[in-house]
Amino acid sequence: MCGIVGVVGSKNATDILIQGLQKLEYRGYDSAGIFVSDERKNQSIIKAVGRISSLQEKIGIEVNGSIGIGHTRWATHGKPTENNAHPHASESNRILLVHNGVVENYKEIKTEYLNGHHFIGETDTEVCAHLIGKFIEVDHLTPKDAFVKALGIIEGSYAFAMVDREDPTVIYVAKNKSPLLVGLGEGYNMVGSDAMAMIRETKQFLEIHDKEVVIVKKDSVEILDEAGIQQERDAFTAELDLSDIGKGTYPYYMLKEIDEQPAVMRRIMQNYFKDGKYLVADEIKKAVIEADRIYIVAAGTSYHAGYASKTFFEELTDTPVELCIASEFGYNLPLLSKKPLFIYISQSGETADSRQVLVKTKELGYPALTVTNVPGSTLSREADFTMALHAGPEIAVASTKAYTAQIAVMSILAKAVGEEIGNEKAKSFNLIQELSLVATSMVATLAEKEWIESKVAEYLKDTRNAFYIGRGQDYFVSMEAALKLKEISYIQCEGFAAGELKHGTIALIEEGTPVLAIISNKSIASHTRGNIMEVSSRGANVLKVVSADCQEEGDDILVGNVHSYLTSLAMVIPTQLIAYYATLQRGLDVDKPRNLAKSVTVE
Ligand code: AGP
Ligand code: GLU
Repeated sequence: MCGIVGVVGSKNATDILIQGLQKLEYRGYDSAGIFVSDERKNQSIIKAVGRISSLQEKIGIEVNGSIGIGHTRWATHGKPTENNAHPHASESNRILLVHNGVVENYKEIKTEYLNGHHFIGETDTEVCAHLIGKFIEVDHLTPKDAFVKALGIIEGSYAFAMVDREDPTVIYVAKNKSPLLVGLGEGYNMVGSDAMAMIRETKQFLEIHDKEVVIVKKDSVEILDEAGIQQERDAFTAELDLSDIGKGTYPYYMLKEIDEQPAVMRRIMQNYFKDGKYLVADEIKKAVIEADRIYIVAAGTSYHAGYASKTFFEELTDTPVELCIASEFGYNLPLLSKKPLFIYISQSGETADSRQVLVKTKELGYPALTVTNVPGSTLSREADFTMALHAGPEIAVASTKAYTAQIAVMSILAKAVGEEIGNEKAKSFNLIQELSLVATSMVATLAEKEWIESKVAEYLKDTRNAFYIGRGQDYFVSMEAALKLKEISYIQCEGFAAGELKHGTIALIEEGTPVLAIISNKSIASHTRGNIMEVSSRGANVLKVVSADCQEEGDDILVGNVHSYLTSLAMVIPTQLIAYYATLQRGLDVDKPRNLAKSVTVE
């Protein structure tokens, strides 16, 4: 996944790179590196294994300059070592390259073009640096022509930023599938994997399209298309505030983001409801109405949000909804209906697995709507329509407020379409009132943090595994709750349909195994309680998360009632807190779990 930042023409390149990389750390944090040069070519390359703080410790005050490129890595090819950390150099050390993505034909490039070359690491990126270097030194191409020629050979995904050490006044940039933006400053310009990495310096950005080559100098930015023709492009202003991306007084972003959820619900209502009307673009409603089937494509938590939206979406729009795991879509292509609409749900809008499906469905001529927290992201730009989550930047790797925002925005869309087609259920469903109730229920649950923390200590202390169970909507929440718990606390956890356990998995229940049961629907509560009895009889330690109207004596965590379409929004809150406290109690880094990155830009 990796994060890239670069600057040319500034007085303080090192500081700009480091603070940019810190903002990008969510994208990967196993190793990092920077290259900095001043105009007299005093140059330094510094790399470190681990977080940006480790890199920072290695940088002396004398390391500064006017141009630099930096990288925080999420390894795909080769272990997180200093040798594999970026920037990577060409054979003669003249060309330096940072890269986000995966070069699929790097082995072929090595055999075909780079015989006899000596590589210090194992990355695909280093091979590209050598290839460009070779075109300069052996074939005597200019750095720009060498870069362009190499891009014609390289296959796969990439965002590249390259510097020629002999002329450190230019950053050469290109992207394909991986994200990269140009940031525009007064007397300096920047490149970065996202706007957050550059927002301290500028709010003005330029998009780069796949396969373009961009030549960034301190006072100019030249964009060339694949044929080498210069492109005109308007800058856009990012509506981000530095304070949005701070932790404030919170110890972790995750807790801040969990706490923000009632406010996010209200913000969504403000943005999508005015003067008694739901503000959904006519063409989006039309696209849903014309579709004979909706295919939701997503990954991880966003996929779970798709599940949580399925029931109300079908009931309110009279259109069947199918869920597709983005990374599986290419191999397990469902038999598509005659008039499908694809909805891509993605917090980041950059997930490579989802994007490759979007590219494919666009080729097939099918309409696409992206529901994302980052309008302007790749999935948003490339889809026909976008609906924004208005959740504010989500920094913690574990997604929380984006999940609830995704479901809320999907409910707005379903309601708006339902009203338009005269669906009876939609007409009688007062969504704004119901979302206000959701916000109220969330506030009440969030006020019970200490209680929830004590329950975590009671049920999950020292356990290596756990199960979440639920039926109906509660099953969908169980899947999300289990993902949250395992991704940050490393407790092995599965979310199960409560009735399904006895078909095999119940064999894993032993004396003391924690089972976390979610119950929010009166009509099926007795069935889930039956399953609780089954596991309890086999020794399970059952923690019950129950909505107020299903409450019985002995239940552990109570959640305020909400409409049956929206129970996921309320029931998920205690499970997010459970994951948070289980992780804290294990002394782990809540915001940056091992092996993960926030934005998964490799397939
Ligand atoms: C969430 O906690 C995860 N870290 C992850 O599953 C995430 O939801 C997934 O990678 C999809 O990301 P996206 O929403 O940005 O597309
Ligand atoms: N493939 C490159 C590496 O392993 C970049 C990885 C990435 O973008 O995640 O270093």
